[in-house]
Formats: sequence, C-alpha cells, structure tokens
Amino acid sequence: MTAIPPASSPASAGTGPLTPGGRVFVALDMPDVEGARAMAARVAGHVGGVKLGLEFFLAQGPAGIRAAMAGLDLPLFLDLKLHDIPNTVAGAVRSAAALAPRFLTVHAAGGPAMLRAAATAAREEAARLGKPRMRILAVTVLTSLGDEDLAAVGQAAPAAAQVRRLALLARDSGVDGIVCSPAEVAALRPELGPDVALMVPGIRPAWAAANDQKRVMTPRQAVEAGADHLVIGRPITGDADPAAAAARIAAELGA
Ligand code: C5P
Repeated sequence: MTAIPPASSPASAGTGPLTPGGRVFVALDMPDVEGARAMAARVAGHVGGVKLGLEFFLAQGPAGIRAAMAGLDLPLFLDLKLHDIPNTVAGAVRSAAALAPRFLTVHAAGGPAMLRAAATAAREEAARLGKPRMRILAVTVLTSLGDEDLAAVGQAAPAAAQVRRLALLARDSGVDGIVCSPAEVAALRPELGPDVALMVPGIRPAWAAANDQKRVMTPRQAVEAGADHLVIGRPITGDADPAAAAARIAAELGA
C-alpha cells in the first residue's frame, strides 16, 4: 500500500493541522437549519469541517449559516460557486467574509480577472476584519459536463484538457486551490505543485453505496493520489449511524 502523504500539507498551510478525519468536509445537502445542525453535531468529532452549498444558502441565507454553525467549532466550506464580473464577485467575497468560511468556491471559467479579484478581496477583507483569510477554491469543469456538453457551449477542447487549462489558470491567478474529481487528482497534483489545495468530492468508502456518483475513489485512494481535503456527503449523512460512518472513514485514512 502506498504511504499516505503527511497529515499536514503545504496546500493547507494556515488552515490548521490535518488529522486523518480532519481532511473530511461533510456535505450537508439539506435545506433546513435544524437538520444541518443536528447532523453536524453528530459527526463533529470525526470530520474536519462542514460543507454548505446553494440548497442550504438559498433557503436559509447568512443567518441560517450562522445558526447551523453556532457552537460547532468546525470550519465552514461555503460552496457557492460564484461566477460574475470581477467587481461583483469581489463584493460577494467581501460579504461572505462575515461568515468566516475557511473555503469559498468560484468558477475558474470566470476568467483571470475574476479569479484575481476574488483572491484579492479575500485577502483585503480578512485584513480589514482582523480575521483569518478564507481560501478561494476554483471549480474547473463540472463533473456533470461531458465533451458533448462542452461542445454545445462552444468549448471544443475535451473536458480533461479544459480541466487542466482552468486549473493552471486558477493557480496562476492567485487562488488557493481547486475542486476536482478523484480521477483528476493524480494528473493535477504534479502539474500544480504542492501549494495548491485539492478539494475532492466523488468519494466512496468501499463499504458505501455509489449513489449517483460514477467515477469514485475511496478516501484513502484519493489522499494517496494527492487530495488534501475530501468532500463526503451521503456515505456519512445517509448512514444509519452517521457518527460511526465518519469515524470509520477517519480510521481508514489514519491506518
Ligand atoms: O453525497 P455525496 O458524497 O455524493 O456528496 C458530494 C458533494 O460534493 C455534494 O455536495 C455534491 O454537490 C458535491 N460535488 C460533487 N461533484 C462535483 C462537485 C461537487 O459531488 N464535481
């Protein structure tokens, strides 16, 4: 078995030490505060953070995010996939800073100026508030898009080439990391170098159902390939015992 990379990686510098379970952000894909809060509380001892996305944010807003996270002492991954003109994205990043997320997503396809604006706004707003800086993560090509879908929107390059292009653009535009599928990690890690954080969904322990995820890796395989952080939803939240499932994942990562 390949040696698992060190628990603390340069790509996570400034975001705290990574215990085995600390790599895992549990995806709370639900619309209600109480459900999210209850689930987060159940698994809190075995995961490194919580991912809340558009479903929750549009139902509950910033107040709901605060309510869900209150007292949890877990980092927030705010998955809002921002994509707009640079000035608007910079403003959105400044607004998001009030929620003190550890990670916030933007679309790399927003282009270099938008990516730079997001990174700069994160830095400046953290300094202004005297808070730790959020890490900006760029989404490259959504895994729901195939080569034909890209062709339909005028993107001739195959998805894999476009992922590489957007990942390098994101790095060179000053963002902290990217979101990528397990299948992309091994190719991207050496290209991007050690300082770019790789946040990876599409993770399934060997004992969990694949659900609608197609090309999956186990948590350990993904980390061995070079992932820094893992996004895991239903294998934890859909388990009859979410805390036990999260603990099992942490144990597999630490073994
Ligand atoms: O339940 P599951 O583990 O499949 O949840 C994965 C989470 O990661 C979901 O919140 C999903 O929206 C997100 N995600 C994904 N694939 C991507 C990007 C994000 O599954 N390419």
